[in-house]
Amino acid sequence: MSSMTEFADTVSRRRTFAIIAHPDAGKTTLTEKLLLFGGAIQLAGAVKARGDARRARSDWMKVEKERGISVTVSVMTFDYENRTFNLLDTPGHEDFSEDTYRTLTAVDSAVMVIDAAKGIEEQTRKLFEVCRLRNVPIITFINKMDREARDPFELLSQIEDELQLHVTPASWPIGMGPGFLGCYDLMKDRLVLMPKSRSSLAGETTTCDGLDDPKIDQLLPSHAAAELREQVEMARGLMPEFDLEMYREGHLTPVYFGSAVNSFGVRELLDGLAELAPPPRPQPAVGRNIDPLEDKVSGFVFKIQANMDPKHRDRIAFFRLASGHFKRGMKLKHVRTDKQVNLHNPLLFLAQDREIAEEAVAGDIIGIPNHGNLRIGDALTEGEPIQFTGIPSFAPEMLQRVRPEDPMKAKHLGAALIQLAEEGAARVFKPNLDSGWIVGVVGVLQFDVLADRIRTEYGIPVKFEQTQYITARWIESDDPVLLKKFRDANGSTLAEDHDGDPVFLARNNWHLDTAIEQNPKLRFLKTKEKL
Ligand code: G4P
Repeated sequence: MSSMTEFADTVSRRRTFAIIAHPDAGKTTLTEKLLLFGGAIQLAGAVKARGDARRARSDWMKVEKERGISVTVSVMTFDYENRTFNLLDTPGHEDFSEDTYRTLTAVDSAVMVIDAAKGIEEQTRKLFEVCRLRNVPIITFINKMDREARDPFELLSQIEDELQLHVTPASWPIGMGPGFLGCYDLMKDRLVLMPKSRSSLAGETTTCDGLDDPKIDQLLPSHAAAELREQVEMARGLMPEFDLEMYREGHLTPVYFGSAVNSFGVRELLDGLAELAPPPRPQPAVGRNIDPLEDKVSGFVFKIQANMDPKHRDRIAFFRLASGHFKRGMKLKHVRTDKQVNLHNPLLFLAQDREIAEEAVAGDIIGIPNHGNLRIGDALTEGEPIQFTGIPSFAPEMLQRVRPEDPMKAKHLGAALIQLAEEGAARVFKPNLDSGWIVGVVGVLQFDVLADRIRTEYGIPVKFEQTQYITARWIESDDPVLLKKFRDANGSTLAEDHDGDPVFLARNNWHLDTAIEQNPKLRFLKTKEKL
């Protein structure tokens, strides 16, 4: 990259996105097909096979296998049509929403996959809300059209009503279930028919001169051609035309119909991502937004993963570049500790493997191997003390006491818990009047994952036990005397988090409400905001 224009061009070709979906809607299948079109994998089935191989390699992953869910978040980079796509995988299970939410802070757009028979489901709705908070633009893919599906109008109006989003069909389905013949591509005026042979990768495309083109009558049975024309006319009357600006501001979603398992509609979706989805967006930070074209490197850690490769007991910090042109070997400032970090071996994640990243630009994700010094929300820069904002931290909704099976290991357990808390895997509280530890999570399955990790990574078998607490609140006050008074008077329900900050543990809602009412000059915070 020699010049500024070349740099700007490289950045503008990046598409960093995630797929949001309710489990079973077809996210894995679609991911695999996207990688296939991107030439990143050769064989269908590779994503799942890779998943199985990975699971088999680690004890920690047993939890995934037993529960049949995916815990890991990975990054997959592939090229298509002169664009570089970074697909950030988001675990679908609701218990892992915390990781998923954070991943959504690192993308510039999302693809929302909906099962054509089920419409919008719970998890889709939750993930959508997170996208909305950040105005993340969304392209919708309505999957499984080869099965009995809901009426397309009904699906579109559900998106419009429930998500309060304008919808514009980007393609229109011709039939459904066994009678699903294909789609009319409304963006490019093409008829795309289901391939006759299963081995064919994409649909058979015929360019049309609008919907009145007689080619349509030759290619479709007459009732299907008539229905297509009638439905499209109605849809165009009911729904707004596609508007790029509205899409990019997160107010309108183009909707594609398809069948991921048949690779159908995937190419159109990818074309849509390539042409419509935004390049890296400015990242919010204290004082100003960081523009992707700024020449100095900056970025933030949005995810930490331990033991990705059990042969190397490493931790990988997933780092999203917000600006600049990164080159391997760079030294960056770790803003929280004011120390230099040498990036000798940053990792780039290709679909099936990882390799050393020689260079990267805004929008790219690199993996930084480390021993626990990097935390979620941390910024690395070329010197400026940038503080990125909006990386969410969640109120723990489930609190359990954790004990080592061997009481002699209590001290080691404390050290392990602090590391896990720093990594962002859980909240950890040390009650004032108790020698044990309390762990707070947002989803019950996180306890299993933690128990497994503490056993395999730190060699300490542990048990989790119920507590009398229902939630925790960080307490703050502008008046240190008041805060101290409160802490002294409420010793038995107070704890400290891993940074030593005071936390109120509530026994029930009444307990919490009373404490809030009686202490108007204290703030009871659900999350410890990472500024
Ligand atoms: P997820 O990651 O969102 O949880 O969904 P996944 O891709 O694993 O798909 C869930 C199930 O739906 C899978 O079936 C998959 O084959 C099927 N599926 C995905 N896309 C389509 C589609 O376009 N049409 C139809 N008819 N089915 C689709 P499974 O039986 O659970 O698994 P498998 O043994 O077939 O892999």
